[in-house]
Amino acid sequence: MAGLIERYRDRLPFAPGDPVITLDEGATPLVHAPRLSERLGGEVWLKIEGANPTGSFKDRGMTCAVSGAVRDGSTAVVCASTGNTAASAAAYAARAGITCAVIVPDGKIARGKLAQAVIHGARVVGLKGNFDEALRLVRELSQAHPIALVNSVNPLRIEGQKTAAFELIETLGPQRPLDALAISVGNAGNITAYWKGFSESADQIERMPKMLGFQAAGAAPLVLGHAVEQPETLASAIRIGDPARGEEALLAVSESGGAINSVTDEQILEAYRFLADQEGVFCEPSSAASVAGLLVHGLPEGVERIVCALTGHGLKDPETAIEIGEGIIPCEANLAAVETAVWG
Ligand code: F0G
Repeated sequence: MAGLIERYRDRLPFAPGDPVITLDEGATPLVHAPRLSERLGGEVWLKIEGANPTGSFKDRGMTCAVSGAVRDGSTAVVCASTGNTAASAAAYAARAGITCAVIVPDGKIARGKLAQAVIHGARVVGLKGNFDEALRLVRELSQAHPIALVNSVNPLRIEGQKTAAFELIETLGPQRPLDALAISVGNAGNITAYWKGFSESADQIERMPKMLGFQAAGAAPLVLGHAVEQPETLASAIRIGDPARGEEALLAVSESGGAINSVTDEQILEAYRFLADQEGVFCEPSSAASVAGLLVHGLPEGVERIVCALTGHGLKDPETAIEIGEGIIPCEANLAAVETAVWG
């Protein structure tokens, strides 16, 4: 399948002949979740964004941001990141043959993401500070130097990510519109992008879905109504205290008649396990915040058909899985021991 820019060129700001940096992102599976549906009393679908080339939804935005940077003559890109943006930027910059620097909170990003950024050859800077400070600094850096900023403050990131909404409409069809989208919220770019995608498709669907955003309780500025100085959550991808697109996210929520709520780390982990154990779907903890939100708050009135955007692959963060999963059973190398080990 062709990459996003080629598939949706008529709805993206790219002209024929513009350079396209792609890894054939998008076209991710939409999987029905029977056990979750039963538990919630609705029809629940999972948009598996971890199936993108670098394992997260960021690739949708990054194909556009890096293609735009190359078109504008940039030879270097930079981002602040809790991990996934860094992994994606590093991969697309490698593909484009340009330089990439990523600024991450030191010691606070999942190891799979770090591995990606390093192996794709980015300059990986471990900041003694959190994501919000990193974002402030890269904004300053990109103003002072000829280096393109590829965080979701870059409008091309939102353009690329809005295509996830297009895919949902295509896959479900106009006869079966969604009632709601559940999505985890960090820097608030993705919820903004989905809403833009749905809004641009208003003529194709019978009704607009409600946007249900979920933040981690220790990093919930949009729920609290003010920035959080020291955000804390084990869902490290959404450990953000001052979201750059917070106002747009709140607008998406209010325009759509949705809501923004928070979930505790414990609730996130319960949803994370439930998805892996009951649905066979392994996402990262930050992605499971959307499902946790539905398990805790239930489906809003009038919502029957809902999609949860599962934003990143579980393999991004192997430590969390190993820590909370069932332990490993040691076993001698003979049949009797294996029989005991297997049947207990
Ligand atoms: N889920 C995952 C797996 C993420 O990596 C992020 C954000 C989000 C949800 C929230 O999306 O920021 O658009 O509201 N990760 C960014 C990063 C911040 O640097 O990788 P958002």
